[in-house]
Amino acid sequence: MTTTTSTSAAPAAAPDRTPLLQASGVIMRFGGLTAVRDVSLTVNSGEIVGLIGPNGAGKTTFFNCLTGLYVPTEGSVSYKGTVLPPKPHLVTKAGVARTFQNIRLFANMTVLENVLVGRHTRTREGLLSALIRGPGYHKAEARSRERAMELLEFTGLAHKAEHLARNLPYGEQRKLEIARALASEPGLLLLDEPTAGMNPQETRATEELVFAIRDQGIAVLVIEHDMRFIFNLCDRVAVLVQGQKLVEGTAEVVQSDERVVAAYLGEPFEPEAEAAPAPEAAPEAEAGAAPEAEAEAGAAPEADATPAPEAAGDNETGTGTGAQEQENDR
Ligand SMILES: Nc1ncnc2c1ncn2[C@@H]1O[C@H](COP(=O)(O)OP(=O)(O)O)[C@@H](O)[C@H]1O
Ligand SMILES: [Mg+2]
Repeated sequence: MTTTTSTSAAPAAAPDRTPLLQASGVIMRFGGLTAVRDVSLTVNSGEIVGLIGPNGAGKTTFFNCLTGLYVPTEGSVSYKGTVLPPKPHLVTKAGVARTFQNIRLFANMTVLENVLVGRHTRTREGLLSALIRGPGYHKAEARSRERAMELLEFTGLAHKAEHLARNLPYGEQRKLEIARALASEPGLLLLDEPTAGMNPQETRATEELVFAIRDQGIAVLVIEHDMRFIFNLCDRVAVLVQGQKLVEGTAEVVQSDERVVAAYLGEPFEPEAEAAPAPEAAPEAEAGAAPEAEAEAGAAPEADATPAPEAAGDNETGTGTGAQEQENDR
């Protein structure tokens, strides 16, 4: 009698959690510095997975390895069983979208236009078609706008569709980044500190938004310092410390792990405590920095230096954010 369970024919609705993203043995070295040390992580369909750890732990670098901005020194990253090409636009095309710790928006484009930019990987109409502006172009354009407006409704920004991105308050700029990422119709969304700089109400709203995204069938991997946000939201949490995965497990497991408390939380997490203080303030993303301003700490050493084809035609009018820079963000 070895069979302990019977999986007999429940015709519909088994919660099938198949692996979507599989990173295995990822190592990222910058000269003598190893920022990511042999990290393996799986995100399954239907999951919200958290990635936490002190500043400088390698979280963003790991995201950059997942999304083709960096070519990992060692290790592999696959999505739905296929190794991802180390080119950001191809990763997006494959179904993995992301937002950036340092907001990247086209500051002088409208909110709607920013979302339309995010749809480029999904629209078949190419440059030639755009120049000719035949019926196919107009149809695709109309569909794109319709979808973009849906996403603005979904993220609560529809009433700001015609505003310039630069005029949005900080919290709405972060939401717009999410809307733009969703416009590529991803199966997996990576969020790098989505609530940095938000007030508690905005943070709660973002929590609801992430749940709603998951309910639409999109898995989420999220980096955050706000422990309340992470532990409310995530099915699973991985802790990075000094580039290494220290612990991975449910919120309960992680928040009570002594090593996590010692290395990161500082004190045991109290769920009922209001507004859990972020132990590290993520200074580089904080304080309402002008979204278009910074190219954090120099260019990515292995980033794709060619402008993304899908962004090449966009006449970026901000004060420093070019499409190319966007590709090189980290
Ligand atoms: N392009 C780069 N060149 C050199 N060092 C880098 C680069 N990107 C990140 N690092 C270093 O890698 C480490 C991890 O950084 P990062 O991934 O940004 O951490 P986190 O997102 O967890 O705060 C840091 O020591 C950082 O200085
Ligand atoms: Mg970071």
